[in-house]
Amino acid sequence: MFKKIGRNDPCWCGSGIKYKHCHEAFDEKIRRIEDEGHIVPTRDLIKTPAMIDGIRESGKINTAVLDAVAAQIHAGMSTQDIDDIVAKVTADAGAIPAPLNYEGYPKSVCTSINDQICHGIPSKDVILKEGDIINVDVSTIYKGYFSDSSRMFCIGNVSPEREKLVQVTKECVEKGLEQVKPWGFLGDMGEAVHRHALANGYSVVADIGGHGVGNEFHEDPFVSYVTTRGTEMLMVPGLVFTIEPMVNAGTDEYYQDESNGWTFYTEDGKDSAQWEVTVAVTEDGYEILAH
Ligand code: MF3
Ligand code: CO
Repeated sequence: MFKKIGRNDPCWCGSGIKYKHCHEAFDEKIRRIEDEGHIVPTRDLIKTPAMIDGIRESGKINTAVLDAVAAQIHAGMSTQDIDDIVAKVTADAGAIPAPLNYEGYPKSVCTSINDQICHGIPSKDVILKEGDIINVDVSTIYKGYFSDSSRMFCIGNVSPEREKLVQVTKECVEKGLEQVKPWGFLGDMGEAVHRHALANGYSVVADIGGHGVGNEFHEDPFVSYVTTRGTEMLMVPGLVFTIEPMVNAGTDEYYQDESNGWTFYTEDGKDSAQWEVTVAVTEDGYEILAH
């Protein structure tokens, strides 16, 4: 699939160093692990340092957009008002909201309230009320690089049950991050997320998950949280993906809104929460590129 590099050719990573002195041993290590029966990343999923720099810049804007939402979100505003903030702050930074027109998606951001699991569509008719919990999911394209992160916001005073769901879901991402290191497996990360959700009596949506990101909005691998250790894709330095578990207070079952073709709801009408980061695997652990 990839052009065979001569040992004396410049390395594919852009270092300018001969392949034999740069990533040759790295590529061979991956091949050995693949021979043991594991899923390994193809080279197109492994970002060069220059690509990581680009995704980091995109991610700074993505994070700043969410900071702007955090500063302004309040009861009485509409989810369209959130869309307007995202559109303006993104444009002012010289960037593009990745969701807009993505597979026909009509807005610049996803806003998912209470029993909406994800892909809630902003509307001037949806007004935030005291006690709501809402996920705001922002994705940015800057100089061709994609980043993606989301946060939960509690609108005014929320019930202790909702507050706990929001907090535990945030902790799930933190538990997952602790497992992100080179030569581990994505299944280690997902297992840690799932374990923490289950320990708190929650479920995790199985068929909707995270993804590789950076050169495209959605790249391989699919990132599941219903996994066991030592399974799923091998993590290597330069792999960039999202951790974005959808944690439900009740059942993990869901249905999709047929009228808009986008929004997912919990089947039982109980609440759902989600936090998302874009993370890069580094030589000794991870770097969060958007949060
Ligand atoms: N940001 C979402 C994700 O985490 C994707 C939203 S796609 C959209 O993958 F088009 F609905 F915005
Ligand atoms: Co995502």
